[in-house]
Amino acid sequence: MNLKEIHVPVLLKEVLHYLNLKQGNIIFDGTLGGAGHTIEIIKAIAPTGKVIGVDLHCQTISTAASKLKDFSENIVLVNDNFANIKKILKRINIKSIDGMLLDLGLSSFLIEKSKRGFSYLKNEKLDMRFGNGDYISAFDVVNEYSEGKLTEIFQKYGEERWSKSIAKNIVNHRKTGDIKTTGELVEIIKDSIPQKFKYDRRGHPAKRIFQAIRMEVNKELDNLKMAIEDGFKMLKSGGRMVIISYHSLEDRMVKSSFLEYEGRCTCPPDFPVCRCGREKRAEIITKKVVRPGFEEISSNPRSKNARLRVLEKL
Ligand SMILES: C[S@@+](CC[C@H](N)C(=O)[O-])C[C@H]1O[C@@H](n2cnc3c(N)ncnc32)[C@H](O)[C@@H]1O
Repeated sequence: MNLKEIHVPVLLKEVLHYLNLKQGNIIFDGTLGGAGHTIEIIKAIAPTGKVIGVDLHCQTISTAASKLKDFSENIVLVNDNFANIKKILKRINIKSIDGMLLDLGLSSFLIEKSKRGFSYLKNEKLDMRFGNGDYISAFDVVNEYSEGKLTEIFQKYGEERWSKSIAKNIVNHRKTGDIKTTGELVEIIKDSIPQKFKYDRRGHPAKRIFQAIRMEVNKELDNLKMAIEDGFKMLKSGGRMVIISYHSLEDRMVKSSFLEYEGRCTCPPDFPVCRCGREKRAEIITKKVVRPGFEEISSNPRSKNARLRVLEKL
């Protein structure tokens, strides 16, 4: 493996600290990836603790299995969607957990090795599915969505200023045949952005569109919502949920769900007394979002947009 393929775990020290790990804990790691967080969690809860390591991408699971071969007593590997947390735990007869970690987004392995078209810097088949399930791929989104629907997801998930003209060009291009590869899509995106705006902003011109398509294909916000709701139910009293997100919509969802569990009143400010009846069921441990420092960002640029939040169940 070259260096780019090695996934460096983001905010590792902070994750270990906030999970408040003790020997014998049972931890649900919903985003196993390169097992960077998992290995260190296992060391902190061994010899009797267990990590349930989940990932949708099956090759990621087999790569992690060989990394974790010395810890077989302390790991249960599951190829599934973290949104299915309740079913997964039921299947392996675990009634409750001491902690849950979600480190959302892409691993270096998926970008560099999966050949699923996650990177705008490689020319691969349009796919972008994390899993192998029978659900839509990037090819379907790009070749079948209407111009209006494409514009909507580019705006919503990509916050792309040129969403409309990119969607229009995609639909025009389809008249000459299917758009099959990431390379073709990148060229269409570049052609849709006026020359003087193409390179005046941070990042590659296709970055936001690729992110939007990936979020749509994998229903990332829906999965996150379900994992927070069902994960909270499975936490023991005193158990913690640690979530690292890389996208403002995801972070907003984490923040507002955590506020809800903390019982923050949602009544309009002019109500004399509270009528929403929100009940306090948890404590937000991170009063301010935790972000990587300058040193981490310079040694691991992937961490740049990371935002970590922590909730403890009462
Ligand atoms: C950022 S990586 C995790 C990296 C890991 N924490 C580490 O330190 O090596 C995210 C991983 O989550 C997986 N993933 C994304 N969405 C998922 C979902 N809904 N269910 C299960 N796994 C998912 C991806 O396949 C990817 O391997």
